[in-house]
Amino acid sequence: MKQTAEEQSIENRIADLIRRMTVAEKIGQMNQMCLGDGSLSDEISQQIRAGRVGAVLNAVDADTVNTLQRIAVEESRLGIPLLVGRDVIHGYRMILPIPLGQAASWNEGLVEAGARLAALEASTHGINWTFAPMIDIARDARWGRIAESFGEDPYLASQLGVAMIRGYQGDDLTAAGSIAACAKHFAGYGASEGGRDYSTTNIPENELRNVYFRPFKAAVDTGVCTIMASFSDLNGIPATANEFLMRQVLRDEWEFDGIVVSDYNSIPQLCDHGLTADDRQAACEAVTAGVSMDMASGSYEKHLEGLIGGGDIDIAIVDQLVADVLRVKARLGLFENPYTTVDSDNTVANTDAARLARDAALQSVVMLKNDDRLLPLSTEKLSSIAVIGPLADDSYEQLGTWIFDADINAGVSCLQGIRNLAGDALDIHYVKALETSRSQSSDAFDEARDAARNADVVLLFLGEESILSGEAHCRADISLPGAQAELVRRVREAGTPVVGVILAGRPLVLTDVIDDLDAVLYAWHPGAMGGPAIAELLFGLESPSGKLPATFPRAVGQIPIYYNQKNSGRPAIGNEVVLIDDIPVRAAQTSFGMTAYHLDAGFKPLFAFGFGLSFAEFSYSNITTSSDELAIGESLIVSADLSNTGFVAATEVVQLYIRDVAASVTRPVRELKGFRRIHVEPGQTVKVSFELSIADLAFYGRDNRLRTEPGEFQIWIGGDSTADLGTAFQVTGGE
Ligand code: BGC
Repeated sequence: MKQTAEEQSIENRIADLIRRMTVAEKIGQMNQMCLGDGSLSDEISQQIRAGRVGAVLNAVDADTVNTLQRIAVEESRLGIPLLVGRDVIHGYRMILPIPLGQAASWNEGLVEAGARLAALEASTHGINWTFAPMIDIARDARWGRIAESFGEDPYLASQLGVAMIRGYQGDDLTAAGSIAACAKHFAGYGASEGGRDYSTTNIPENELRNVYFRPFKAAVDTGVCTIMASFSDLNGIPATANEFLMRQVLRDEWEFDGIVVSDYNSIPQLCDHGLTADDRQAACEAVTAGVSMDMASGSYEKHLEGLIGGGDIDIAIVDQLVADVLRVKARLGLFENPYTTVDSDNTVANTDAARLARDAALQSVVMLKNDDRLLPLSTEKLSSIAVIGPLADDSYEQLGTWIFDADINAGVSCLQGIRNLAGDALDIHYVKALETSRSQSSDAFDEARDAARNADVVLLFLGEESILSGEAHCRADISLPGAQAELVRRVREAGTPVVGVILAGRPLVLTDVIDDLDAVLYAWHPGAMGGPAIAELLFGLESPSGKLPATFPRAVGQIPIYYNQKNSGRPAIGNEVVLIDDIPVRAAQTSFGMTAYHLDAGFKPLFAFGFGLSFAEFSYSNITTSSDELAIGESLIVSADLSNTGFVAATEVVQLYIRDVAASVTRPVRELKGFRRIHVEPGQTVKVSFELSIADLAFYGRDNRLRTEPGEFQIWIGGDSTADLGTAFQVTGGE
């Protein structure tokens, strides 16, 4: 690759430093030390002074970070500044919706702005490196980390991952407020068996390349500074020791030249995986695979010198990995400007931050149901409402996972949001009914039912507390926890219309409650400003515009269930399947079925990928392509008309799907290839166009190389992944 003058000067500086470094100093650059409680110890200071630390983890106060940097820059022999890493995942002080919620906005600009805000806040506290975005494809809602993901689709995750990286890193990495991003976890972590965190994955190379790698390739192409190895075992070789991932794919094929960081202690954990007999061998495997930095374990620090001295590791390999670390530091401008200037403490007092958090929450909420147009509520038509449920008035539990540095007093609960908006006009009766989302006691259910009976409408706030999703927080049963389903039934007995607002870190299985709710807003963990945003949606100041970034199963046994599945040789289609209660006694073995479905759950999800309702009514028509054929090097325009046939202005997320009808490797039944948020006035029709190029249609073939093959492609434009407005074109030639 041709280098710019700036890159050349960075490489010269790196080469010069490496020439002057001792082996111990080189190993120091590969060592990230955890500060534990965030404070400075003598041991850490000494280690930094001795040049034995390249990065720290979990220092979050500017004075401490400046002290650390001063030791590194002024008191260590070579004066190399430190990287200061922290999990800044969906906000720093001001918490935005969890990443899965942000994904439901299908809004790259919003995701970028959220990351920018978080970077600004975090960088004032001395942080120059975040461990985000998590761009693991997540097709299993049992996995607690689905909350941190952008969902199940490689295209959506790629677009939003790139947006988040742009937000953290900015246009200029050396500018104040830009911090290094980390695309994680490479690779396949989201496919952990059984949806159990950290467990094994077995993913064929073709599936890796077509699905799991896609967002990472996009991240590398957009210049992400760092990549984190996954904790998980991939096809028998844990990612931390996986040369195929870190060397062949990342370095050789994609030309990534930033830092590959291990996950927390994942180097010694190679022994727990059963890959290595001891910590020394684990360090050897990780270096050989191409892991440039050891997060937290100290294994490199303990063993690398001996491994190099004993000839197990060539110093040239170490030099390359050290160069990765120095390169990121140079790109961030840390050699020139290692210190944090605290001129203003970016806190949530900042109204722009609060507005952005509210906008993000507004756009992330997905309306799943709205029978008889129960929503929006009108303060003119109602006189009293009952607000019920364990998550109605809890500004902490709406924040979600990874909120280490949140200003937890800044959040506005849903009840407070409703009171602020409608408290003067309506009589609001609040009953918590359950102490937490997990509580089993039904002692307060009579009170809840009576409150429902005396109200014109019930707003029922259900879901999961923050701690029930996120890392290591997986669930085998993903229905509403505790006695919440029973609460729904009891409230229903009152006969008053019920709106369910669900706050959760994953798609829950809602099958047992959905019929007892007249309307449902799915709010994920909406962050600090979830309360005002949800109130605005309930009372129609804004229309819901979120769309599902992950499929909602009917039953947990359907998992993995995702829209872009392969067709199989015997797909179940239409509504033709016979379910368990309709099977005649002693039916002959082949008298029904013989297609791919569950007797007790059918084959459809409860809610499909891309789905989400609006207060407006949208209809699609007139799909056209600019040509019936597409040849190598060309592109075509696909368009459709989107009409708002309802009575309110609203935003629709228009989605483009394709299907490669026959290919040398079977292709999904549908693949998302484009999306746009379009604002439409009532009565207005807008023509929405997408450009599709040959490259957009490419997939990894039998030889695992990217190609577009000739033949028929079907396309659909619509409001979700089941859109039926479609047409087709032919690819001629291909590549
Ligand atoms: C997680 C990473 C995280 C790291 C540092 C690990 O347990 O898997 O995603 O960045 O901890 O906190």
